[in-house]
Amino acid sequence: MELLATAATGTAGFVATECRRLGLQPLAVRSDGVLLDLEPAQAAHALVHLRVATRLLLLLDDIECPDADAFYESLSRLFWPDWLDDRHTLAVRCSGALPGSPEAPPGRRSHGPPIANHVFASQRAKDAICDRLRQRYGARPSVDLDDPDVTVHVRFAGDRATVALDLCGEPLHQRGYRVAEAEAPIKEHLAAAIAIGSGWDGGGPLLEPLCGSGTLLIEAVLNHLSIAPGRRRDFAVERWPWHGPLFGKLLDEAREAAQVHATAAVAGAGGLDVLGLDFDRGAVRTAKIQVQRAGLADLIRVERGDARRLEAPPPGTVILTNPPYGVRLLAGGDNVALYRELGQRFATFEGVDLHIVDGHEAFLGAFGATPLESLTMRNGALPISLRHMRFGQWPVTQATGRLRTPTEAPGPAQD
Ligand SMILES: C[S@@+](CC[C@H](N)C(=O)[O-])C[C@H]1O[C@@H](n2cnc3c(N)ncnc32)[C@H](O)[C@@H]1O
Repeated sequence: MELLATAATGTAGFVATECRRLGLQPLAVRSDGVLLDLEPAQAAHALVHLRVATRLLLLLDDIECPDADAFYESLSRLFWPDWLDDRHTLAVRCSGALPGSPEAPPGRRSHGPPIANHVFASQRAKDAICDRLRQRYGARPSVDLDDPDVTVHVRFAGDRATVALDLCGEPLHQRGYRVAEAEAPIKEHLAAAIAIGSGWDGGGPLLEPLCGSGTLLIEAVLNHLSIAPGRRRDFAVERWPWHGPLFGKLLDEAREAAQVHATAAVAGAGGLDVLGLDFDRGAVRTAKIQVQRAGLADLIRVERGDARRLEAPPPGTVILTNPPYGVRLLAGGDNVALYRELGQRFATFEGVDLHIVDGHEAFLGAFGATPLESLTMRNGALPISLRHMRFGQWPVTQATGRLRTPTEAPGPAQD
């Protein structure tokens, strides 16, 4: 099966790395993801284990679609009864640059009816698929936009489009530990990419001084212990008419093996030194619940603390952090003052490796340290940069000491 493990902006390299680590050799690494040729058992393994990829899509065909009629005809020619019957539900999701749009690559001129927008394209695609299925079964499947059994993805690139089926259902970043109260969390797949990029190997302490709901720490520990993020969730492919039973069995095997591994890995990881701090009581409460739900309560400590008064962590500490951007949490001015104070504090640290997410144009100037590397990503609609900085002597040959929980309570404003 030819599959695309889709990647959010800036993360395709991480997806390729995780595929190789899982023993899945990429056919190609593209900006939108990693192409793979997998057996069903490998695809089930990938679904349960991928942590940076956003979806796993089964590529059906690359079609011609210079206008709406050609689009309908091309889709009608695909053999939909292989994938769907009249008793399962369907959704079509269209994206990408429509033919003739300013973003589209130059293509064939057409005088046929235009594909006006993605909603129109989805309706035409649904008609083509349902008409084909009605010829076969005498009835058409129902559309369910909220929880479809089979989702068809159509990605336009001008007068051509890629047609694919989504094996996941809910995107892969939905691991099952998130609680609704989390405010401005970083998406799990990005947190996983940041954790992998940091190279934290459990040998030294890991600190998140503005931890919010704890996503970065949870993803870093899951990654370090090779705990599969999808071991406790379902996937849409289990509900497909012809392939569901096989995939259900393969996924059950993969989930069960991953759960056995997770239990053993957590039990054997007693020595880890991982601490999250936040000055907000609600955030600390949420982080503790999420850490618990992720099965990592014995490995990650979460306490109240003010990052502006952070004690110097031991040399060899890796800090992963995602301060407020100003768009969603505190007002811009307060955040710039926070970046300045954090920069001054961190500049006094010895042997500390920092990976910090910056989503504010004033961040670098206020923080005042020069990044060794920067990587552009997106957290949902927000463009963010991941900055890597180091403080004091590096490398640290041996990590010394453990992280201490703050003794000084944050001010009453954050109660
Ligand atoms: C963008 S959120 C972090 C989101 C987190 N990465 C997650 O996934 O949930 C920023 C967090 O910084 C915390 N914060 C802001 N100023 C702080 C300070 N001086 N000390 C500690 N925490 C602070 C806020 O309470 C908020 O939870």
